[in-house]
Amino acid sequence: MRTGSILILPSILSARMGYLAEDCRYAMASGADGLHVDIMDGHFVPNLTMGPDILRAIREELPEAYLNVHLMVTRPDIYAPRFVEAGADTVHIHVEAECDLRATLEGIRGAGRRAGLVLNPETPVGALEGYEDLLDEVLIMTVHPGFGGQAFIEGGLSKIAEVAKWLPEVDVAVDGGINMETGRRCAEAGANVLLAGSFLFRAGDMRDAIATMRWEIESALKASDRLKSGEETGKGGKK
Ligand code: DX5
Ligand code: ZN
Repeated sequence: MRTGSILILPSILSARMGYLAEDCRYAMASGADGLHVDIMDGHFVPNLTMGPDILRAIREELPEAYLNVHLMVTRPDIYAPRFVEAGADTVHIHVEAECDLRATLEGIRGAGRRAGLVLNPETPVGALEGYEDLLDEVLIMTVHPGFGGQAFIEGGLSKIAEVAKWLPEVDVAVDGGINMETGRRCAEAGANVLLAGSFLFRAGDMRDAIATMRWEIESALKASDRLKSGEETGKGGKK
């Protein structure tokens, strides 16, 4: 449910796999609002990452952390229940996946977790039609899924704005190429959940990077609110 506050979730795809527990603890201790966990099956995307046992290990390490799981798999109907069981709070499945999306989303929600649909860069927002009643979150990809460290695809900005306007109660997340500048632009377009891998894990000090990002975005949003109310009242920002 969109509240107006911005969630910043480090994507642990960019963590050191040999020190995964340590890096997850570091991210949470740095002021992260939770962790974004990328699951890849080597089929839906040309890369493999982790299975439910790794998620379970993260859950055991951080019992209170909000875990936002992104399934880049061809058959989320098979795997979503296993990640739910392993401790995911939100499970995202791709609209391009090959399964009964409705039944899979219903299954995630039926287990008391939050459900999300993800749109690849080339998939239009209209692909979400018919699933609106089952969505807690929509995730707009601003890179082609599979790898961290890619350049931000600008076309995601108009899709964020479209979803934010169409589904005002649904969280709008963005994933891929998010840094201070692209994160601010996505938030200005209407995203309230920012997923960032390489930017946060490569920042020398993640605490400083998250705090600065939050401050810059909140300041920009307040400034644009002031501007909008000024435009509406014609009194230079004062009501
Ligand atoms: C890409 C993943 C992303 C990835 C983003 O397929 O879904 O979550 O970690 O990495 P950056 O932030 O480096 O683009
Ligand atoms: Zn992701």
